[in-house]
Amino acid sequence: MSTLLLLPGDGIGPEVCAEVRKVAAALTPNLTIQEAIYGGAAYDALGTPLPDDTRDAALAADAVLMGAVGGPKWAGVARDKRPEAGLLNLRKIMDVFANLRPAYCFDALASASSLKPELVAGLDIMIVRELTSGVYFGEPRGIETLPSGERRGFDTQTYTTSEIERVARVAFELARGRSNRVASAEKSNVMESGLFWKEVVTDLHKREYADVQLEHILADNCAMQLVRAPKQFDVIVTDNLFGDILSDAAAMLTGSLGMLPSAALGAPGAPGLYEPIHGSAPDIAGKGVANPLAAILSFEMALRWSLGRIEEADKLLAAVKTALDGGARTRDLGGSLGTAQMGDAVIAAL
Ligand code: NAD
Ligand code: IPM
Ligand code: MN
Repeated sequence: MSTLLLLPGDGIGPEVCAEVRKVAAALTPNLTIQEAIYGGAAYDALGTPLPDDTRDAALAADAVLMGAVGGPKWAGVARDKRPEAGLLNLRKIMDVFANLRPAYCFDALASASSLKPELVAGLDIMIVRELTSGVYFGEPRGIETLPSGERRGFDTQTYTTSEIERVARVAFELARGRSNRVASAEKSNVMESGLFWKEVVTDLHKREYADVQLEHILADNCAMQLVRAPKQFDVIVTDNLFGDILSDAAAMLTGSLGMLPSAALGAPGAPGLYEPIHGSAPDIAGKGVANPLAAILSFEMALRWSLGRIEEADKLLAAVKTALDGGARTRDLGGSLGTAQMGDAVIAAL
């Protein structure tokens, strides 16, 4: 029997994860759900954002679903003990290098987007973000004092051939099951690592994926194109930092940051890490108004990509659609439902 490990975390994390629990109880009563302490909550209780027991439970589970971590409360904590460091460590330890962030606009939400409805109606983009390398992990990094007394902050962007190839492969494979188009976004015009990224993707494409239509696009232009004419894209593959930024922008195309789920995948058969792309939303935490759909749709991705329950995943996706068609809207979507009421609307549709 498969096991899902829930890591509610901080801020709105526990609120949206409670709705995932409710949905799971209704949809997959025979799925074993465990829960572990994580993020700022774990730092407060145990002095570390990723306790050993939580790490071990994550590696032993079939899928891990987290809420969100971080918040102003931990702003002064040493970097390696910050809630976000726990998340980065978990991604690294699970080796989930390919982060699938689907920007899919439900028909009912075309008018909830900040873009004109005709620009986003029918939108279906898959952003594949490299998740375990790049400037997030490159060394050296730090803040130092120069001999002159002036201070200097620095980070390092690095990518190896294999790191680029493995994530590009995921993008090409996904494209083959979709509209067969990949846009690879980098800054090859200014960055060595960007130039290298482009070379490696070009070589791999030539060798193994010549049937897929490949376009190279500069990341700044990609950001602009996402808000100008987003439907031109099918799959976008990009590095860790650009993927973080481009996916937040893409989220607004779907109506709200509270709509976008994600799946972080590693080697076949290894547990995936599922997370809404939004954060702990300190401004609304504790108020019961957060949109739980990004978390619920992350559960849908876990059912599909790690737990082998395609039928239940299809059912859940259809239920979210029905709930939205029926007018269910949290505040971020221009409605007035609370977090729990949105969860109830999905369960009613199930
Ligand atoms: P955020 O995503 O938490 O919030 C940005 C804005 O979107 C806020 O106005 C928030 O209220 C709104 N929002 C986010 N999710 C929502 C939802 N489900 N429903 C309705 N509105 C929602 O980003 P931030 O404010 O820049 O970051 C807050 C903290 O979260 C930081 O500590 C950051 O590091 C952390 N963070 C964590 C994750 C994660 O755990 N995966 C992701 C992003 C940010
Ligand atoms: C995300 C978040 C994280 C990231 C932070 C919280 C470490 O913004 O998952 O999009 O930058 O990867
Ligand atoms: Mn982000």
